[in-house]
Amino acid sequence: MRLLVLTQDFPPAIGGIETYSWELARRWADAVEELVVVCPRQRGSAAVDRAAPFPVIRTRVPCDLLALGARAAIMPIVRRRRIDAVFLAQWQPGPSLLGPRRAGRIPRLFVAAHGRELLFAPFAGAPRLQAACDRLRRDVLAGADALFPVSRYTAGLIRRIGVDHPRVVVVGNGTDPARFTPGEGAAFRARHGLGDRPLILTLGRLVARKGIDDVIRSLPALRARHPDALYAVAGGGPDRARLEGLVAELGLGDAVRFLGRLEADELVPALRACDVFVTASRDDEPDVEGFGIVFLEAGACGRPVVGTFAGGIPDAIVDGETGLLVPQADPTALAGALGRLLDDPALRRRLGAAGRRRVVEVANWDTAARRILAAMREVAAGA
Ligand code: GDD
Repeated sequence: MRLLVLTQDFPPAIGGIETYSWELARRWADAVEELVVVCPRQRGSAAVDRAAPFPVIRTRVPCDLLALGARAAIMPIVRRRRIDAVFLAQWQPGPSLLGPRRAGRIPRLFVAAHGRELLFAPFAGAPRLQAACDRLRRDVLAGADALFPVSRYTAGLIRRIGVDHPRVVVVGNGTDPARFTPGEGAAFRARHGLGDRPLILTLGRLVARKGIDDVIRSLPALRARHPDALYAVAGGGPDRARLEGLVAELGLGDAVRFLGRLEADELVPALRACDVFVTASRDDEPDVEGFGIVFLEAGACGRPVVGTFAGGIPDAIVDGETGLLVPQADPTALAGALGRLLDDPALRRRLGAAGRRRVVEVANWDTAARRILAAMREVAAGA
């Protein structure tokens, strides 16, 4: 197979689709005849592209315009490299590719689906324009040879927006059990002045749907039982000022620490440093959690995780086995689950060990890359 991966989201930017695109591409590069990634130019990308074990072609077209410019950006590459399959990491660059797909100039077209991009409505104030956008989204999804949603929930979103595709293959996200491993967290704690207090950690982009405010609201009840408990929030994003305001309003200044965006080599030390990992996402449509790679990353580091019954999180956490799930937007339930884990070191160890085992056995990028590639090959072979 000669594969072109087209993605709006690619490192050095940070986020789940960036991780997804990078991790799959670098595995496919070893498994196919030809692999090239096409993505928008961004600051700081030269170092990433040099380190990539495959060619990365940065388009001049900015990310938001890739929807219009994808055809011009990739067709010369498709011809030159005799590409026989295009994999879109998200549907948005797809509309201008449907023509070449129908004409056979792109022999196969595959589309991944995450969550938010299936619901977002950029032209909500202009109903006719939005209806046209919805139609394009459905056309791209329906026109693909196969769709790869990252969770059962995301597969449900595809049906909900009116796409009934015969080849929908749910392939859950993964993580890398060789990179994310259990170990000592003392050095990270020391570097960030976290002491040896019971530590709860969230890692993620600071956006409202991640429910960091719900964890903050759970702290007064949690601290009634665990007065020393400390909540560390790692990650950067637009919601930080609001969250800091909430911490001040609730008088929780000594209970919450914002660590900011972490360098890539700080992720594992941060996860190892915590006693419990939590992300309390909410369905804040169109902003939804398609899966939650961070739960696997924490689990791979042997940490117990707490999440919510929101979006695709129930595919990322096996409730009662690798972590605990609580209702969304429920600080009381969060305080209960976090308190239960802080009370019980044996339960923490059991959930953490099971989380790691699940990543090693199934929830890893090797498995995800293999499964998607097998499905693409089946299609290419005309099965
Ligand atoms: N270096 C660094 N620094 N990486 C970070 C930071 C940071 O401060 N914050 C988050 N990340 C990385 C995490 O390690 C993880 O690999 C990724 O960014 C976040 O992925 P998700 O937890 O999956 O969340 P998302 O909202 O950005 O991703 C969306 O797409 C994913 C892929 O399908 C959501 O829909 C997710 O639910 C979905 O899993």
